[in-house]
Amino acid sequence: MEALAEANHGHAVAYGDDPWTERAVADFDELFDCDTVTLMVWNGTGANVLGLASALSPGGAVVCTDCAHINVDETGAPERILGSKLIDLPATSGKLSARQLESLRHQIGVVHHVQPRILSITQSTEWGTLYSVAELEALCHAAHDLGLYVHLDGARIANATAALGGTREALRSFTTDIGVDVISFGGTKNGMMYGEAVVFLDRSLASHAGYVRKQITQLPSKVRYISAQFSALLHDDLWIRNASHANQMASLLHSRLVGRSDLSVSAPEVNSTFPTFSPAIEQHQIEALREWSYFYDWDTAGRQVRWMTAWDTQSDDVERLVTGLDHFLS
Ligand SMILES: Cc1ncc(COP(=O)(O)O)c(C=O)c1O
Repeated sequence: MEALAEANHGHAVAYGDDPWTERAVADFDELFDCDTVTLMVWNGTGANVLGLASALSPGGAVVCTDCAHINVDETGAPERILGSKLIDLPATSGKLSARQLESLRHQIGVVHHVQPRILSITQSTEWGTLYSVAELEALCHAAHDLGLYVHLDGARIANATAALGGTREALRSFTTDIGVDVISFGGTKNGMMYGEAVVFLDRSLASHAGYVRKQITQLPSKVRYISAQFSALLHDDLWIRNASHANQMASLLHSRLVGRSDLSVSAPEVNSTFPTFSPAIEQHQIEALREWSYFYDWDTAGRQVRWMTAWDTQSDDVERLVTGLDHFLS
């Protein structure tokens, strides 16, 4: 908020030609230790569409998991805007394996099939899991071997970085070091008011990205307000500290849930837990709990829900939730 207020003095050139954006792009270059092309956008769906659209060629398709945000939680925006097929492969705990990509080889170069052009992976995943560096390296290698670019949906890239060591080197170990080509870099979920960045590590993919951003309605006239927030977040690695805190709060939440008879939950790898209510709990009790403190269903049939922790979750919030559980599930 201070960064927003600081950027709110006087006038600046619009559409990103301003000192705040110049600084933020330099901050991203420093973060990834390379010369990126970085474009600010309004939201995560837009970031994904921009990253994918820039790397796709006619006849191309995007390979992802069946549970990828681009596949199930963006209301079909990628298909509608890209006009391309998403090839969704079955995920295990939110993840793909390098071996699964082999199943695509037969369609490459065959005129009757869409041409897999991009592998889009999410780190940390929609299931709150983490790819290890070795797993991602193998995936990138397999993708590049098939002639695919690699897009990383990093709506929660900060939580992954925090969990994999909490340093800039950790970030680079699963991005620049292994050949990821373009990243949707999350801001909103990690403390920003709004805004995400598309970071092209392969600059050649960005040759038309500026035009595409405008076409897909993701070019804010006052880009500086997103840029200023990113500089504040990247400064002194606040982004990693925020995400580490969120991850720690998920561990605390898990420790307070484990052993309860009314639900079961496995240990979080980042900042999400996916409790499943026991059959003894009646639906009206779950609804009363939800009425008291809103949460999303994850798998309605399986009575599984998703409880996230955030950069600003406090241990008191966790205790309050436990009190609510005791009250509504008893
Ligand atoms: C993995 C992932 N990608 C992208 C997004 C983008 O979200 P939005 O378009 O709501 O900013 C989200 C939001 O939940 C997400 O979880």
